Amino acid sequence: MHHPINLFEYEQLAKECLSQMALDYYSSGAGDEVTLRDNRAAFERVKLRPRMLVDVSDRNLHTSILGQPLQLPLLIAPMAFQCLAHPDGEVVTALAAASAGVGMVLSTLSTKTMEEVALPNSLQWFQLYIHKDRGLTRALVERANAAGYKALCLTVDAPVLGRRERDQRNQFTLPPGLHAANLTTGLDIPHIQGESGLFTYFAQQLNPALTWRDLEWLQSLSPLPLVVKGILRGDDAVRAVEHGAKAIVVSNHGGRQLDGAIASLDALPEIVAAVDGQVEVLLDGGIRRGIDILKALALGAKAVLIGRPVLWGLAIGGKLGVSHVISLLQHELDIAMALSGCATLQDIDPSLVNTKRKYA
Ligand code: FNR
Ligand code: LAC
Repeated sequence: MHHPINLFEYEQLAKECLSQMALDYYSSGAGDEVTLRDNRAAFERVKLRPRMLVDVSDRNLHTSILGQPLQLPLLIAPMAFQCLAHPDGEVVTALAAASAGVGMVLSTLSTKTMEEVALPNSLQWFQLYIHKDRGLTRALVERANAAGYKALCLTVDAPVLGRRERDQRNQFTLPPGLHAANLTTGLDIPHIQGESGLFTYFAQQLNPALTWRDLEWLQSLSPLPLVVKGILRGDDAVRAVEHGAKAIVVSNHGGRQLDGAIASLDALPEIVAAVDGQVEVLLDGGIRRGIDILKALALGAKAVLIGRPVLWGLAIGGKLGVSHVISLLQHELDIAMALSGCATLQDIDPSLVNTKRKYA
């Protein structure tokens, strides 16, 4: 195949250079993958209402999240086990993000340690899975703070792991030499007959008893601001704000948790209305084009996260591949803004997508 010119072509190419187990783990959704498909379909359902004859000669894609500057409204979503795609894994993902001026959220389940990945001058958050072992959880938070991560991103949609049948079929586990590097060795991903080792890991180690009250405990462990990831309802968004969240990520975990859950883009307007500007709202799930970023921003997101396309870039070209994936989205967003009459991100307002209301 020729050099990929969009994120879908990256996906096609990546299929040829990943092991079956890695490809299945990366691309899977839960169950019948209805939510996985609907994340994309939701973007395709939204139609744009471009404005004409606006001076768009000077376009600016800069923004900020939690007070930190970004070159474009984009972060890399937390994704476990990136060394399955490339030997340098999360380390080069972080370098590509930092050199493009976009954010990166590092998974608890990374295959490089958070200290190896940390770039304290860039926007990096640490994604937390709260383990039953509170001491382990506390140590993760303290290390993230010491290493210079700027926020804790608590994922709340995974009290248990979703059922990904391809992982079950493959008896998913990490190949020899790869580990969940932030954790002590006794807690590696097991190899289980007829079962996904990651599913078993979650069942054994993660705490399914968490409630909103635990957010206060979590915030007592460090001064890091709290971002809550995995919200799909307005009332939960309000609860997150009441319990101290400084930002919310609207997400269904890329369709990997509850199959049949609402597409994240469809959940966004209710959540934006419910939080009413009190905190920043981000979105992930199905972002593959610059126009998708435009649509998410028009519906009220301050920025978006991308997941799987980063893994495809990493698999094909390491740091260069991730950088190219980011720059493709940047160019597409830039062109989409020009063609819709938006010189800055502030010009991307609800009237770009919404015909139900009257606008001046
Ligand atoms: C994820 N995601 C995820 N989320 C999280 O909070 N912690 C994690 O460790 C992981 N791990 C993970 C691994 C892989 C392989 C994927 C694909 C996803 C979910 C991720 O942060 C994000 O919500 C979705 O991937 C966004 O959807 P798209 O962009 O992949 O469609
Ligand atoms: C996943 C977990 C690790 O989606 O968040 O695979």
